[in-house]
Amino acid sequence: MELQDKTILLGVCGGVAAYKAAALLRDMRRAGARVRVVMTEAATRFITPLTLQALSGEAVYTGLWDERIANGMPHIELSRGIDAVLVVAATADFLARMATGRAEDLLSTIALARKTPLFVAPAMNRQMWEHPATRRNVATLLGDGVCFFGPASGVQACGDEGEGRMLEPEEILEALIAALTPRRLAGKKVLLTAGPTFEAIDPVRGLTNLSSGRMGYALARAAMQAGAEVSLVSGPVELAAPYGVRVSRVRSALEMREAVLQEATTADLFIAVAAVADYRAEEVATQKHKKENGRPPEIRLIANPDILAEVAALPRPPFCVGFAAESENLETFAEEKRKRKKIPLIVGNLIQEGFGGKTNRVILFDEEGSHPLPPGEKQAIAHKLIEHIAHLLEKTYARAG
Ligand code: CTP
Repeated sequence: MELQDKTILLGVCGGVAAYKAAALLRDMRRAGARVRVVMTEAATRFITPLTLQALSGEAVYTGLWDERIANGMPHIELSRGIDAVLVVAATADFLARMATGRAEDLLSTIALARKTPLFVAPAMNRQMWEHPATRRNVATLLGDGVCFFGPASGVQACGDEGEGRMLEPEEILEALIAALTPRRLAGKKVLLTAGPTFEAIDPVRGLTNLSSGRMGYALARAAMQAGAEVSLVSGPVELAAPYGVRVSRVRSALEMREAVLQEATTADLFIAVAAVADYRAEEVATQKHKKENGRPPEIRLIANPDILAEVAALPRPPFCVGFAAESENLETFAEEKRKRKKIPLIVGNLIQEGFGGKTNRVILFDEEGSHPLPPGEKQAIAHKLIEHIAHLLEKTYARAG
């Protein structure tokens, strides 16, 4: 769990987006965090402290004079032992108070008294976000080291459209995890492929496979959270782009190859997770195949290029990582694939344990041998894998001097 052992103080301000704090809090708890909630008086008009208390499993605080804190100093007591303060539905007024160092309610006092990073997810009408006063306050806060999550553009509660909408809870959670994850891939460019490919036979039919894309998307997210600039070339899947990751959507192996080769020469790391179809139809029928007297059509297949092997054979290749999904003899086949493609690391898994599902069990094969990772959710595995890869990368750079 990405936020295991982390304690976050979640501040909620008084804006319509405050209702999203409930979903965010639930997601933060699922990611392993302990969450202490502080609300402004205005926030309690939009969502009740009881809701957030039930979800956090702890008392919720709203006032500076709260008598439940024994030493009478809630702002000090609540900012002790936390890893970060995250303020959501942050209003123009909250930003103004922060920018001028005012401390007239519990949340702004904690924001001043804290020793930990402050993350802010603003939510306001676009006119307010664009107002010169707000722009000045944001610039001041950036200068003070405050980190902004969003806002995004889109339709707002007032019906206006523009910048100022709060990020969705899952995007805030991803940004929070990224901000708290050691940045072992900072300054690195990571290129990945994910999902299946679809090889057309005629305008409506084609060859594909059951890859869900989840492992590749999870790795892209973990690489972004480790500080990398991430570009993901994705086959046809329904998954949303991970926050902060550039996604190019392609369909066939040839399209995937082209998109990859455009970026491979500038990448530091290439992780080929896609289940690329090994073959495609030599000719794609322009019209739909018809049943002709019940005689099946003859479709000649030709081999697709091996994208991973091609990238690994570039004059100055990025550090290449492949995947081997096998139905038997995992160790032998994966290691044989690693050598054939001339890559330093291959991630092996048995199809029956991961392909298409939400969990996985993988074994890493590199020059030093095999390293099994504990089974689990694909996102948790992705973080461990990125750690292992970052370690190998550091060793490679150290060797190269
Ligand atoms: N790969 C690729 N381009 C292809 C085929 C595979 O980049 N045309 C990559 C995959 O993304 C994965 C690895 O190579 O990282 C899988 O290797 P491969 O030998 O092609 O796997 P399989 O198709 O499963 O091979 P086999 O049928 O021999 O088991």
